[in-house]
Amino acid sequence: MVVVSNRGPLSFREDADGTLVARRGAGGLVSGLGPLLAGTDGLWVAAAMSDADRKAAAAGVVDAEDFHVRLLAVDPEAYRLAYDVVSNQTLWFVHHGLYDLPRTPAFGLELREAWHAYRQVNEAFADAVAEVAPAGAAVLVQDYHLGLLGVSLAERRPDLAAVHFSHTPFATPTWLRVLPEHIAGEVLSGLAAHRACGFHTRGWADDFLACAREVLALAPTTFVSPLPTDADDVLRAAASPACDAALAEIEADVGDRRVIARVDRIELSKNLLRGFLSFDDLLDRRPEWRERVVFVASVYPSRTGVAAYLDYQDEVEQLVARVNERWATPGWTPIVYDTRDDYPRSVAVLRRADVLLVNPIRDGLNLVAKEGGIVNQRDAVLCLSREAGVWDEVGEAAVQVPPFDVAGTADALDLALRMAPEERRARAELLRTLAMARKPADWLADQLAAAG
Ligand code: G6P
Repeated sequence: MVVVSNRGPLSFREDADGTLVARRGAGGLVSGLGPLLAGTDGLWVAAAMSDADRKAAAAGVVDAEDFHVRLLAVDPEAYRLAYDVVSNQTLWFVHHGLYDLPRTPAFGLELREAWHAYRQVNEAFADAVAEVAPAGAAVLVQDYHLGLLGVSLAERRPDLAAVHFSHTPFATPTWLRVLPEHIAGEVLSGLAAHRACGFHTRGWADDFLACAREVLALAPTTFVSPLPTDADDVLRAAASPACDAALAEIEADVGDRRVIARVDRIELSKNLLRGFLSFDDLLDRRPEWRERVVFVASVYPSRTGVAAYLDYQDEVEQLVARVNERWATPGWTPIVYDTRDDYPRSVAVLRRADVLLVNPIRDGLNLVAKEGGIVNQRDAVLCLSREAGVWDEVGEAAVQVPPFDVAGTADALDLALRMAPEERRARAELLRTLAMARKPADWLADQLAAAG
């Protein structure tokens, strides 16, 4: 088996004396897939994202932290164009419906050049996989960065069975039409060249099929397999001394007040702005919550090479400052806002939550909703957007939040804060059961079955 993804399970840094040190990589995809591959003889092919990674790539296959990893170094400028401009600024926006259509996008020559680079990066990945994959291997290609692999792999190594899995939603036909026609066509024919295309929900698979019907007049094979959370892994993190220390720090900030929590990357699809606007509305319309509740937001920067993300972070921080200025009293800071990318602290926030807000505009799955259900022991109420893929798995245990309706979200928070203890307990128990229903190995078995 070979897993192929842009971000790999290892990242490297260089010590003062020039020694390369491997660290386990971060991010949802790695935390989901890592435990499945660790300790097996499966190979993982991934991009070298930093200079130290590029040096490590020169060594060929690296064995570290229980993984066998082949890092692939492509020309840094071609990589930037493929990763920032095509993957994050274009495909991500189309799949999540994030453009402000009267203004953006305004595609120019940069996208043409970047599309060329994207093809080049996909070709380089296909070469690397073709070189290292054992005969007849199943190749599990992850996400929108590598949508064209199926085509090149079929040419180079027809013995391999390549399956593509999207961890994102898939564009609706209307959103796909935003792309230049040839790019939309290549995205779809690239995916259709795999044996099967997997998604976290039936809805995302159906959106993909609707696009494929419209553009290719084809119905590629699809399968649905939501990524499970590794419950042991997250419970281990929750029981660690680092997590206890972080929890103590949070307790010192919030005391015995109620906590509304969120844990997210600072990412446009996560809907941070409307989350904080809803809290402002809650404090405005329900004065009884003033000084009695704290919004603990553990949100950390992501994809800082893309201007839209930096602008979004600025806007979020200005809003947080305004809400805090408006309502703070001596001894009470309404929003405790923390941008450290610190996993034990994020888990501590999930442990301390009384209400967990997960209100994305559109989200492939959302593991935080499941992790929260697993580690929290205060019967936290999950306030969840239907637009998160995880809704299909755990929605019945949650209070629904309408992601575009600020007043409606404030009402949902109020309902969650007021919920009777017995109902909280029943929902929390159901959430835990649903969040742990599938094991990581089930997801892997689905990929291998799709590879045939
Ligand atoms: C999230 C998405 C994945 C995506 C990943 C990439 O976890 O759900 O679909 O692969 O982000 O993030 P990165 O930080 O590597 O750009």
